[in-house]
Amino acid sequence: MILTKISSVFLICLLGLYSKTAKSQFCGCSPILCCSQYGYCGTSDVYCGSGCQSGPCGRFKEPAVVDRIVTQGFFDRIINQTDNGCAGKKFYTRDTFINAANTFPDFANSVTRREIATMFAHFTRETEHFCYIEEVNGSSLDYCDENNRRYPCAPGKGYFGRGPFQLSWNYNYGACGQSLGLDLLRMPELVGSNATVAFRTGVWFWMNSVRPVLNEGFGATIKAINGMECNGGNPGAVNARIKYYRDYCGQFGVDPGVNITC
Ligand SMILES: *[C@@H]1O[C@H](CO)[C@@H](O)[C@H](O)[C@H]1NC(C)=O
Ligand SMILES: *[C@@H]1O[C@H](CO)[C@@H](O)[C@H](O)[C@H]1NC(C)=O
Ligand SMILES: *[C@@H]1O[C@H](CO)[C@@H](O)[C@H](O)[C@H]1NC(C)=O
Repeated sequence: MILTKISSVFLICLLGLYSKTAKSQFCGCSPILCCSQYGYCGTSDVYCGSGCQSGPCGRFKEPAVVDRIVTQGFFDRIINQTDNGCAGKKFYTRDTFINAANTFPDFANSVTRREIATMFAHFTRETEHFCYIEEVNGSSLDYCDENNRRYPCAPGKGYFGRGPFQLSWNYNYGACGQSLGLDLLRMPELVGSNATVAFRTGVWFWMNSVRPVLNEGFGATIKAINGMECNGGNPGAVNARIKYYRDYCGQFGVDPGVNITC
């Protein structure tokens, strides 16, 4: 867990002297120091940030950009709109989102407020304000593409929608799991039982399928997430996504841009 400000400042002071003498060109650091990507021991972001090989990696890092944008208040204004009986209300948290985002340093450090407004507009629509963890009545569907040999379905497992982007189909669980280092073909239920994993699948999907079209406007992101809704398929859903997007852009004080609809 993240150290409190006071204790981390105290620790850094304590370690200041030590780290100067403990630098070495290989990873044999004391367990309280980070081994940097180049094999040096220390405690600042240079050592504990991106590429950190061992030790308290991530501990002494300045908070990532994402941490400053997605405040507890922003998250709560969304999830507080769900009924207390919703499964997702006790599952999704602001901290699990931040933890998941931090496992994608490119995302965590470069994300903008407009991008977060876009992402959370889609999360809000996909999960109904974080009410749903799993697709409604999804357990009766297996979403198994048997022709996909690269990511074969495991016996008895269902690849129905789970998590903030409702990850579906064996090939998506397979590719995502491979990227995250988790066997999601054999354990797809992890996405519905561990909120950090759930949000990691969401950020994985984002990086692969949505971020590449972000510059084309909000409409292109709708198409990337649910192409069927566009072209008149489900105007109500499209309008809901746009409404959330405008709302969140307003909260952040950013311009929603052009090409908002699809
Ligand atoms: C959300 O609900 C929690 C718990 O009821 C409350 O403490 C918090 O102030 C609410 N926040 C917002 C922004 O509505
Ligand atoms: C889910 O299943 C229940 C019971 O079979 C049914 O009443 C309900 O309409 C279904 N909901 C959806 C969204 O398909
Ligand atoms: C959730 O999964 C992460 C790995 O992505 C793991 O570090 C964490 O311990 C898990 N949490 C729980 C409560 O199982």
